[in-house]
Amino acid sequence: MRVNCYNTRPMPTITIDGKPLDFEQGQSILEVANDSGIAIPHYCYHPSLSVVASCRICLAEVWAPNPRNDNKLEPMPKLLPTCQTPAGDGQVVYTSSPKATANQKAVMEFLLTNHPIDCPVCDQAGECDLQDYAYEYGRGERRCDTEKITQSKKDVGDKVMLYGDRCIMCTRCVRFTQEITGTSELYINGRGAVEEIDVFPGEGLNNELSGNVVDICPVGAFLDKDFMFQQRVWFLNKVPSVDPLTASGDNIGIEHTEGKIYRIKPRENQQINQFWITDEVRYGWKFVHDENRVTEMCEDAELIAADKLQQASKIALLVSPMISCEDAWCLGQLVRSLDEKAIIGIGPVKVVGDDKTFPSGFTVRAEKAPNARGVQRALGEVLSYEEWKQQLSNADTVVVTGSYPEAWDTPEIGEDKTLVLIDTLQNALTERADIFLPAATWAEKAGTFENCNNVLQTFERAIQPLGDSQPEGQIAMNLQALVDDMEATIFNAATIRRRMADAGVAGMREVELPKNTNRVETDMPLSEV
Ligand code: SF4
Ligand code: FES
Repeated sequence: MRVNCYNTRPMPTITIDGKPLDFEQGQSILEVANDSGIAIPHYCYHPSLSVVASCRICLAEVWAPNPRNDNKLEPMPKLLPTCQTPAGDGQVVYTSSPKATANQKAVMEFLLTNHPIDCPVCDQAGECDLQDYAYEYGRGERRCDTEKITQSKKDVGDKVMLYGDRCIMCTRCVRFTQEITGTSELYINGRGAVEEIDVFPGEGLNNELSGNVVDICPVGAFLDKDFMFQQRVWFLNKVPSVDPLTASGDNIGIEHTEGKIYRIKPRENQQINQFWITDEVRYGWKFVHDENRVTEMCEDAELIAADKLQQASKIALLVSPMISCEDAWCLGQLVRSLDEKAIIGIGPVKVVGDDKTFPSGFTVRAEKAPNARGVQRALGEVLSYEEWKQQLSNADTVVVTGSYPEAWDTPEIGEDKTLVLIDTLQNALTERADIFLPAATWAEKAGTFENCNNVLQTFERAIQPLGDSQPEGQIAMNLQALVDDMEATIFNAATIRRRMADAGVAGMREVELPKNTNRVETDMPLSEV
């Protein structure tokens, strides 16, 4: 028996499917089960939303001690919704007793009465609760001989489509717009068998977090227009990453296959982004595969760049707030080894409006750069962009890093200077550059970003760098090797973090790798044709 840390009272205990479990007062039976890895089917319950107990699939048989009968265990007269019933000391719960199983089968049969069962053409197939529970708890045949009630597909927002036929009326999406965004675009229209989810006339579901309804919809009713019919989810690999566009540090997963990103999903982090991401982050990865990407490097470009840097009498380095701490540090090491008093500045940090906080506490960040603080942590004292531009006239060789997801406020570099440009997309400086070295985007490398609250978080590489592009850290290491006439080593973010920590950069030793590195896998066997 465990004892609560703050007093000596024993923790309350509940037994679920024969397993005795400690719990905190206030937890529901479903929450205790979830915490212990006991699967109880559920649709309408979501940990961040109010409890409505409407879908009825989580019902279980509950026995509880009766204080009026010498605390003898007695069964509750009906099955109870585990999502809504508080766990009680001494309760015994059966989630797969004959009564509970009969209810699960009945709920599934009821939900599938009007469902089109169009899994072969549904994007949600492979990650659909309805599909999974139909396998596990369903009956396998339709006994109802009435015509199915059909509903039309609705274009309800710029980013999402609603396939009303597939909806099981869990109301998660409606509660999301009421409780998380406070925008209430969605509502239930009609009653009974013909009720449907809809938007108010003239109002689209277009708030900054609209894409999250696709994630919380337990079936394929809400679909992401951008991902629609693009890829089957069981072919996707999922790599943990961090928002590369803003200072939020929101936790994301990059889902990709065969070198191509297909979608970005949020990863749960209650301290940072709860369960959500903005549409800006969800759809902001397109620059990785943009046709304006420059991924080719001229022959001997690195050799020429190393030569120019060695000959320089004064070097200026502009480090972009879009690149990782490790990349920034490697560039700083290279430039300072050649010119101790190099002019080092941070690139422009775009700010759009003000931070916007939703009723749930989720905040959309106005600062549109993921690592302004991390770059300064890695490099120590650096000049602001404006200061750097003012001192630029003193330099004869300039190294500029960009890696912005769109056209950026590039500096004027006089023709009298040698410009080494390390960037991803074509921009005003690409033509001007004397040497262009293609950089890898965040999805093509590992590293660390520091968010607006000074939280350092690592991200992993999702896809191979495109063409000749490389992480800025690798480019710096290659140039250093050429300068020192040594063999180049492979850039490894973890190794660089250790070196940074050894060099006294605070916080780098404590940075943890992201949790949740599972591959998205289907449990359906694939057959070779
Ligand atoms: S659209 Fe999805 S989330 Fe909304 S009520 Fe229907 S099933 Fe639930
Ligand atoms: S999850 Fe409990 S009733 Fe829906």
